[in-house]
Amino acid sequence: MKILVINGPNLNMLGVREPGIYGSRSFADLLRLLDETARSEGVEVEQFQSNHEGDLVDKIQWAWGKVDGIVINPAAYTHTSVAILDALKAVSIPAVEVHISDVDAREPFRQISYAGMACEKTIKGRGLEGYREAIAYLKERYG
Ligand code: DQA
Repeated sequence: MKILVINGPNLNMLGVREPGIYGSRSFADLLRLLDETARSEGVEVEQFQSNHEGDLVDKIQWAWGKVDGIVINPAAYTHTSVAILDALKAVSIPAVEVHISDVDAREPFRQISYAGMACEKTIKGRGLEGYREAIAYLKERYG
């Protein structure tokens, strides 16, 4: 089983960025966690991070016919991007949305998720562990 993990803008700044909200673990720590999870779950994990909306859309389109599941944290584009929603709908690959912080407990503008409308599950407020849970869910359901 192959799972694509997609991270949107500013997630490459984890550890530096608002540690009171996102924690002190770095993006490199997240990549290590993904490697460990791939090994423990016995799945192949490819990761992609971009600060650019169109690149995220391109990567979702690329995934069609190549991956069995998508884990996506679209970051700020969660709350604005119909293009990412449409790309997820277009490829129709089982997808799980992850947010490191509990977006529901934050500003009102973070409480709408366009991407989430094309995802079968949302995991939020679990820190980096949310990515492990999302991969485990896809493995359990589709692996
Ligand atoms: C985030 C929450 C978003 O509202 C924010 O714009 C992010 C990160 C999260 O993982 O908690 O960049 O997606």
